[in-house]
Order: sequence, then structure tokens, then C-alpha cells
Amino acid sequence: MEKINAIITGIGGYVPDYILNNEELSRMVDTSDEWIMERVGIKERRILTEEGLGTSYMARKAAKQLIQKTGVDPDTIDALIVTTTTPDYKFPSTASIVIGKLGLKNAFGFDFEAACCGFLYSVDVAATMIQSGRYKKIIVIGADKMSSLVDYTDRQTCVLFGDGAGAVLIEATTEENVGVQNSFLRTDGVGLPFLHMKAGGSVCPASHFTVDRGLHYLYQEGRTVFRYAVTSMANDVAEIMKMNNLTHDDVNWVVPHEANLRIIEAVAKRAELQLEKVLINIEHYGNTSAATIPLAMWDYEANLKKGDNVIFTAFGAGFVHGASFCKWAYDGASAVAKK
Ligand code: ACO
Repeated sequence: MEKINAIITGIGGYVPDYILNNEELSRMVDTSDEWIMERVGIKERRILTEEGLGTSYMARKAAKQLIQKTGVDPDTIDALIVTTTTPDYKFPSTASIVIGKLGLKNAFGFDFEAACCGFLYSVDVAATMIQSGRYKKIIVIGADKMSSLVDYTDRQTCVLFGDGAGAVLIEATTEENVGVQNSFLRTDGVGLPFLHMKAGGSVCPASHFTVDRGLHYLYQEGRTVFRYAVTSMANDVAEIMKMNNLTHDDVNWVVPHEANLRIIEAVAKRAELQLEKVLINIEHYGNTSAATIPLAMWDYEANLKKGDNVIFTAFGAGFVHGASFCKWAYDGASAVAKK
């Protein structure tokens, strides 16, 4: 039997219209454009401000654009995965809401939670589903409304995050030497004390007590997260290059999780990768968690050429981290020109 490869065949994206810039933030908390640019490299973030709209709204918009751009017949989609830390509801899944809104008749869907690594992990899962031969077309959406769990009186965290969604179509092909090749994925399991939301889960369900004490906001110890993120992503990139016998010259692009410009620069330095090969858009969107990698691909799609060696890497709460290697399968410039 011919080997089945899993290739990314299109990218869609969506960011809300509202722009929360550093100037506005510095009127909300004791911070400044200078501090934020120097420490994290974020100028502005998009915020979904409309009441009653959640992650599924952005996910649906990104997927709709993906379907339009690729021209895929929605009835041929086998599965849709939404990876998010900010689902619309505890249940039903955000994926089920998106499938309903898009009218996908022949698809099943589920949510996948791996914090900022959600997109990296779920692309690997979707690729494996395709390579098994059981499924031919899967949509993977990374989407987060981080503004729904950020405390806008806490200057240590509110400057970091934004909202957005990115979607990719993954398809089966028998063409050789293309698509998702392999991944190096790890979960260290030591991260709970350093990055979490204290209440709202089964350990500490929502109550007046938890709301009064602000326990539904994101909590993090920034310095520890920073240290782990740099070490892990740099090691993971080195590991995936070794697994695939890639030299630094062989790598065309690295698409990192966009948490902080200093983290990205430190990872590139440690992994000895030229910064020009690293796709960076954190300045405009901030950290959109599961959406950062697909949104970077969305912004830079025109740069991606068939045959390019692309490395994805991410790090997030848990701690979850890893890297994967993909041989790019289409000419991004023509896909963008067709839009
Ligand atoms: N504006 C001005 N001053 C601030 C701000 C702010 N927004 N935030 C913190 N400060 C102050 C602190 O209060 C502290 O003041 P003090 O010395 O008077 O006590 C000073 O700046 C230094 O604080 P640190 O926390 O030591 O600053 P640091 O250089 O570590 O930067 C930051 C903080 C930006 C959070 C950094 O630790 C970081 O980026 N960590 C990674 C966090 C991250 O990316 N998390 C995302 C989720 S996980 C992921 O996606 C990978």
C-alpha cells in the first residue's frame, strides 16, 4: 500500500477589529509602551469586545475563510478539531458549535486542550489520523479569547495576551516527501504552580467565594515560565533537527509560539537559527495562546514555498512543549494571490 502523507493545504485566520494598544493599557494599569516593548515586544493586541461572542465565533470566521480560500467542499470534511483553553462553554465542545454553524454534514469534532501547545499537538494528532488512512480531510483550528481570563488590573499579565483564531486544512496525499514528517512532543507535568487558573474547574468550582477573590483569572510566575519556555523550545528545535538530519542551512522557516519577543529571540539564539528565518508577528497580536502559530502562518503565507523545511515549536501551561517538522506542500504566494 502506498504511504499516505498528511499535508497542510491552506490557512485561514481571524482577529477581532478592536485594537488594544500600549497607550490605552497604560491608562488602565501602571505600565508604559517602553516597558512593554522592551520586555515583551508587543505593541497592540486584538480584543473580541462584542458581548455574547466567544471563541467559537473567531474559530468559525477563520474556518470559513479557510474553506473559501481552499475551495474545499464542506461535505468532504471528515473531522474538525478546535484547540483552545477558552472554550465557549464547559460543554458542549466549541468544535460542535463550529461544526453546526459551518453546516459540516459529514464531520465529527472535538476540543483539544494543551494550552499554548494546542495547535502543535493537534496538528500532530490530525496528521496521524490522516496517515492512518481512515480520514482524508481534517480542519484544525487554534482559537483563544484570552481576554476572557485576563485580569485587566494586573499589569504583569494583562499586557501579554490577545484574542484570535487560525485554521488549517490537513489533507491526505500519496505524493512522497511532503507534509508533516514527525514531531518531538513532551509534557513535563511540573508547571501547575507556575501557570494556571485557580478556580472554575472540578477542584474548585465557581462560587461567590472564588469570584470575590478573583480566582478565575490567569495566574503566572513570569520569570519561571520564561526560563522553562526558552530552554524547552530551544532543546525541542535542536531535537527535531537531529531527528531529521537537518542542518541550520536546511531550515527555511521556524514558526514559534508567540509568547514574548524576548523568548523567541532567546530560542533562536540558543538553537543558532537566524532571526530572519523566524516568523514573528507578536507585535500586532500579543500572545493568542493556541492561535499564535496558525496566525503567524496566516500572516506569512506568501513566504512559504513548496518544499520548504518548516519547524513549529511551542511551550505552554503544564508544562507542555515540543517541535514538529513539516515539508511545505504548496506555493503560499499563489494561494494568497487567489484570495
Ligand atoms: N509594566 C511595568 N512594570 C511591570 C509590568 C508592566 N506591565 N509588569 C511587571 N512590572 C514590574 C514588576 O512589578 C517588577 O517591579 P519591581 O522590581 O518593582 O517589583 C519589575 O517590573 C520586574 O518584574 P519581573 O516580573 O521580574 O519582570 P520580567 O523581566 O520577568 O518580565 C514578564 C515579566 C514579561 C512577564 C516575563 O517574565 C515573561 O515574559 N515571562 C514569560 C511569561 C509568558 O510568556 N507567559 C505566557 C503564557 S505561557 C506561554 O505562552 C509560553
